[in-house]
Amino acid sequence: MSGPATVRAARLADAPEIARVHVETWRAAYPGIVPEDYLVSLTEPRQTALWEASIRGTRGADTVLVAESAEGAGIVGFGNCGRARHGGAMGEVFTLYVAGDWQGRGIGRSLLGRLFHTLHGHDLNEATIWVLSANPARFFYEAMGGKRLAERREPFSGMLLDETAYGWSDLGGWLAARSDDGRGQ
Ligand SMILES: CC(C)(COP(=O)(O)OP(=O)(O)OC[C@H]1O[C@@H](n2cnc3c(N)ncnc32)[C@H](O)[C@@H]1OP(=O)(O)O)[C@@H](O)C(=O)NCCC(=O)NCCS
Repeated sequence: MSGPATVRAARLADAPEIARVHVETWRAAYPGIVPEDYLVSLTEPRQTALWEASIRGTRGADTVLVAESAEGAGIVGFGNCGRARHGGAMGEVFTLYVAGDWQGRGIGRSLLGRLFHTLHGHDLNEATIWVLSANPARFFYEAMGGKRLAERREPFSGMLLDETAYGWSDLGGWLAARSDDGRGQ
């Protein structure tokens, strides 16, 4: 891909950089949405260990992807997906984050396209993503063609947080349409 970043499968050695982007994006995106003491308590070493476990657990549709800067800035985005935690033959994108300075340059779209490609390659033609309802980044998923499917209230670090599910019912069609305009992956 020619662009600001290349999307590829994560390697174990990427975990510290994924953790850096994870902590940075959470602290930038979630003040006033997620409890502040949770954001303060996030640490890169702990997130590194969690991402190492996810990368080690990669199999089948369970995948961790990174976007690596083409300008030598290392990992600038990441996402992971797998079979949906709550149901059937559906895929789920569990996380998708792009570092602040790199947002708005098509990297989120590229990561989402590759995550959908992975799910579709494992016979999952439908996908869902749960997003905190108060997060304006959820409109990104509407821009990506997701349809609002459901809402729920989930306990998180001593609070109840409202979440919205977005859904895609035909990943094959979505991928074909995006490859036609060259923006899918
Ligand atoms: C949301 C996020 C993943 C999007 O990635 P990105 O690289 O910034 O997005 P892209 O540049 O690929 O944008 C693709 C399209 O979506 C649109 N878009 C991006 N963010 C949007 C938003 N918040 N609201 C509406 N549209 C948005 C872009 O304008 C672009 O539209 P175009 O096709 O007309 O050009 C990224 O901004 C991010 O990580 N944000 C902060 C953390 C976060 O909240 N992540 C989501 C957790 S669920």
